[in-house]
Amino acid sequence: MERRSVLRTGVASFLALFGAGFALCSKEKKQPVTGPQENGNTVDLDLNDSAHAALRNVGGAMKINLAGVSNPVLVIRRAQDQVGALSVICTHAGCEIGLPQNHEIACPCHDSRFGLDGSVIRGPATQPLPAYPAVIRDQIISITV
Ligand code: FES
Repeated sequence: MERRSVLRTGVASFLALFGAGFALCSKEKKQPVTGPQENGNTVDLDLNDSAHAALRNVGGAMKINLAGVSNPVLVIRRAQDQVGALSVICTHAGCEIGLPQNHEIACPCHDSRFGLDGSVIRGPATQPLPAYPAVIRDQIISITV
């Protein structure tokens, strides 16, 4: 094979491999997005994603793991246009609270009760559950962590 022919074949092979790699990378970026989407220190939950279906209706709640937060966060749909995001760690002795029931959040360890805003309804806990700023707009819940 001539030197020029070898060079052409090498360049063509490189371009073919580069193109295939580029096509694969491009395909990965077009995968449907699921789960929380992070923008800086704000996490967006898309209610069109079935993973967040529990939050589509008023009264719905779910625990969710967010990057940058060591424990799950309890996200609550308080009203059509209002959401809350609370630490799941009870302020009494550190047990994980349950999901809301009858407009209250109970701690399974010593039965402290918290309101949907994290306020203490009944002890032994004396401090509210820490809250993260959260808003809902156009089917997107944004939580600042
Ligand atoms: S740890 Fe929650 S009430 Fe004690």
